Amino acid sequence: MDVTELARSPLKAAAVTSVSEERTVTEQHVSRETPEWTPIAEEAERAARVLHPDRHGMPRPVHRRLLTVANQKGGVGKTTSTVNLAAALAMHGVRVLVIDLDPQGNASTALGVEHRLGTPSVYEVLLGEIRLAEATVRSTASPNLLCIPATIDLAGAEIELVSMVAREGRLKQALSREALDEIGVDYVFIDCPPSLGLLTVNALVAADEVLIPIQCEYYALEGLGQLLSNIDLVRAHLNTDLHVSTILLTMYDGRTKLADQVTSEVRSHFGPTALRTVIPRSVKVSEAPGYSQTVLSYDPGSRGAMSYVDAAREIAERGATGRIRTDGR
Ligand SMILES: Nc1ncnc2c1ncn2[C@@H]1O[C@H](COP(=O)(O)OP(=O)(O)OP(=O)(O)O)[C@@H](O)[C@H]1O
Ligand SMILES: [Mg+2]
Repeated sequence: MDVTELARSPLKAAAVTSVSEERTVTEQHVSRETPEWTPIAEEAERAARVLHPDRHGMPRPVHRRLLTVANQKGGVGKTTSTVNLAAALAMHGVRVLVIDLDPQGNASTALGVEHRLGTPSVYEVLLGEIRLAEATVRSTASPNLLCIPATIDLAGAEIELVSMVAREGRLKQALSREALDEIGVDYVFIDCPPSLGLLTVNALVAADEVLIPIQCEYYALEGLGQLLSNIDLVRAHLNTDLHVSTILLTMYDGRTKLADQVTSEVRSHFGPTALRTVIPRSVKVSEAPGYSQTVLSYDPGSRGAMSYVDAAREIAERGATGRIRTDGR
C-alpha cells in the first residue's frame, strides 16, 4: 500500500471505531502521539501481528464450531470473509476446514487449492461416493487450514439432489463427528452460493451457526428477511440448533454517510450478534484472490488483513467462552 495514502486514509476513522481492545493496546506502542509513529511503522506493526502470531495466538473453542456463511445476495463478501477469517484463525494456531459449497469455486481459488474437473470435491462427498477426508486438501495459506474444493460438477448438484433421499441432510451426514475427528478441526466454515437453493439448505442443516456478511451498501438489508425466515424454517423442521451467531459488516467505506447508516441500522437490528470489527473496502482484499492468496499472505500489513484478524479474534474469543448465542435462546 502507498504509505502516504495510508497516513491520509479517511478509512482510518472507520478502523478506529471498529478496533478490538487488543488492537488499541498495540496502537499504544506505535501511535500518532508517540514520536516514533510513521505510516511505515504502523504498517510494519500490523504485518508483524499477522505474520508472527506467536505472541497473539487465538484460543481454541470449547467445542467444535460449524459456521455456514450465507447471504443469497451476490457479491456481499461471503467468500472473501470465509477464506480470510479461516486463514486468520489458522495462522493463529486454530485448525480450520473450509468447505467450498459454491460451484463458482472462488473459495478454492483463494485458498490455492486445485479444483479442476475430476478433482475429488464436495460434489462426490454430497453424493456419498467418497469420505470427507478423501476430498480434504491442505491450503497453501497455512498448514492448519484445510479445504474441500468445489468443481464445476457442483453446478448440477442442485438439480441432482432433488430426487435423492434425505436431500437436505446430505452434507450433515457427511460431516459426522467421526468424519470431522478424522480430519481434526476446531472450526468448519461453509461458503454458500448466492441462492437459497438446496446447497444452501444443506449447509444450514449441517451447521449450528450462521455467519451473515452484510455489505455496507444501499439495499444491503433487502432480502435479508427472506434469509432469516428460511433459517427459521430450517430450525423449525430440520435443525433445532441453528441460529445466527455472527453478522459481519463488509466493504465499509468511511467516506460515505451511507456506510455509517447501514452500520447503525444493522447494529440496532442485530445488537451484539454483529461483530465490533468492520471490514473496510480495500483494493488489497479484492486483489488477493487473483494471486490464489488470502489478503493475510498477499499484504499482511494492509488494513484489510488486520481487520480480518481482528474479526477472527472476536469469533475465537466468543468460541472460547462458549457464549456463542447472542439471541437469548
Ligand atoms: N473488503 C473488500 N474490499 C474490496 N473488495 C472486496 C472486499 N470484500 C470483497 N470484495 C470484492 O467484492 C467482490 C465480491 O466478493 P465475494 O466474492 O467475497 O462475495 P460473495 O458474496 O462470495 O459473492 P458470490 O455471491 O458471487 O459468491 C469480489 O470481487 C471481492 O474481491
Ligand atoms: Mg462467493
